[in-house]
Amino acid sequence: MCGIVGYVGDSKSLEVLLGGLKRLEYRGYDSAGVAVLDADGHMATRKRAGKLQVLVDDLTDRPIANGATGIGHTRWATHGGPTDRNAHPHLGDDGKLALIHNGIIENFSELKQELLDSGATFTSETDTEVAALLVGREYDETHDLTESLRRVVARLKGAFTLLVMHEDQPGVVVGARRNSPLVIGLGDGENFLGSDVAAFVEFTRRAVAIGQDQIVTIRTDSVVVTDFDGNPVETEEFEIAWDASASDKGGWSSFMAKEISEEPEAVANTLLGRVHDGIVTLKELEPIGDDVLAGIDRIVLIACGTAAYAGMLGKYAIEQWSRIPVDVELSHEFRYRNPIINERTLVISISQSGETMDTLMAVKYAMEHNARVLSVCNTQGATIPRESHAVVYTHAGPEVAVASTKAFVAQVTALYLIGLHLARVRETLTDAEIRANVAELQAVPDKIAEVLRVSQAEIGQLAHWMTDTQSVLFLGRNVGYPVALEGALKLKELAYIHAEGFAAGELKHGPIALIEPGQVVIVVVPSPRDPDSLHPKVVSNIQEIRARGARVIAIAEKGDASVLPFADEVIPIPLAGHLFEPFLAVVPLHIFGMELASAKGLDVDQPRNLAKSVTVE
Ligand code: G6P
Repeated sequence: MCGIVGYVGDSKSLEVLLGGLKRLEYRGYDSAGVAVLDADGHMATRKRAGKLQVLVDDLTDRPIANGATGIGHTRWATHGGPTDRNAHPHLGDDGKLALIHNGIIENFSELKQELLDSGATFTSETDTEVAALLVGREYDETHDLTESLRRVVARLKGAFTLLVMHEDQPGVVVGARRNSPLVIGLGDGENFLGSDVAAFVEFTRRAVAIGQDQIVTIRTDSVVVTDFDGNPVETEEFEIAWDASASDKGGWSSFMAKEISEEPEAVANTLLGRVHDGIVTLKELEPIGDDVLAGIDRIVLIACGTAAYAGMLGKYAIEQWSRIPVDVELSHEFRYRNPIINERTLVISISQSGETMDTLMAVKYAMEHNARVLSVCNTQGATIPRESHAVVYTHAGPEVAVASTKAFVAQVTALYLIGLHLARVRETLTDAEIRANVAELQAVPDKIAEVLRVSQAEIGQLAHWMTDTQSVLFLGRNVGYPVALEGALKLKELAYIHAEGFAAGELKHGPIALIEPGQVVIVVVPSPRDPDSLHPKVVSNIQEIRARGARVIAIAEKGDASVLPFADEVIPIPLAGHLFEPFLAVVPLHIFGMELASAKGLDVDQPRNLAKSVTVE
């Protein structure tokens, strides 16, 4: 889950690399480094532990010559701590070859032993240095950088994207990928490589995704892609749908603040072009086919983190509307327990990045076991959609803050659309019912905007009073339960506060023992208007915890007077149908996590120990 940039062009490598790394820093921020080849054919490297800014400051104090060829890396440490020495690039024996890596080389110990036996000296504790030394040695024999990398990747096990450059090969960068991402950016007299399109979107909107087990060689005037055996590969160009400003903070204090403000658009854009005359038609499902979807007898939603909570909400809606049994599973749990799936199973993966290794492995497993695989993804050209039968893209725009917010509401939107598509195909809802649900969905963006307008300041204040809070519990029932889990996750990952989400009905089976005077409990209260509403039960739960001294913050429909006597604070949300309440209830919790972290002086965009795109298992 490191970030990788490569460049060949004119003499502005450093600007391209540092700009690209800035946009990729969400992928890891333990250390950063660059290697640049100047006009005289000298390679300079600089690498520093810490966030990218440490490297930038160092380069300002002690500049290196700029050049026309370069590679850059931002690291999330796996093998070896976050030190200067372990930072990438790593060099070959003679220091003429530089290599950067994203992923894990699983057989690095045996390769390291082999290199040690042949006299190599290691300067780091990384698995990556093995690859640098091996490619350097192959180059000494072949004098062909592409062939050298090809020979080495044939010996590597695990997941990797590797980029290499060599002092004797100015104007050439070679990349290889297996199970980790790499995308090509096509420029005019310049070409780019990046972990994702954010790396180069400032310079070009033309991109090409590289498939599994492929090698790419970029020069200023050519891009050649082959498979690991050297056979040419056909590639397909695509246009990046957003421009560079979409991945800038745009005046906001943090990416997270900006991305929360974009939650209404994330929903609206994900609906665009998918509703015709009030009915949902997802053309993207054609590769699977409506006839196949009509015969599906089970759906399994797989995802990690916030995406898994979006999946839990998807389960409620898809089951309700299509009457197909739906299970939700964490990708890594699904993959390694011999799950029962067959050609009548629809596996839906949910991933903002489309690169999460746990989910990718689960998708591959499902494909191998004949399931139909559909991915919900926010990133064009990412690996998971390429490994699936079909993809429904969420159009949330680039999400940079590590903790996911706008992608979450976009994922729920996409899952609801899939549910309504299935309901049409299987005729489990009438057109009128579908239209009514679509209308609810279309009303969501304005309602989220109202939540943002009304509750932002109040939640900010609440968060400021709570900076010393040690623990917060979240309760919700039915669709409020995933919202509670999501609220708790946000608080853990952003504010480093112990937080847990519970199904409110489960309270009396254990968690109530945690309640002591002053314990803060945030309760997601369902609407009292719904005839099947669990409202009275949730209000009883509130009374139970209040009786034991809890301090209750309720997220409740505006005008719901019944919670007022029992809640210390009420955060009102607009009226919505039962399945649509989560879109509104989750927004205050996103704001709450962000505000509490900010009030504690923490970096909300880059929380400690985390990375946005987790490309290791
Ligand atoms: C990481 C991020 C989470 C994200 C999860 C899944 O853990 O910190 O915010 O929800 O990965 O990511 P994905 O890209 O697959 O949605």
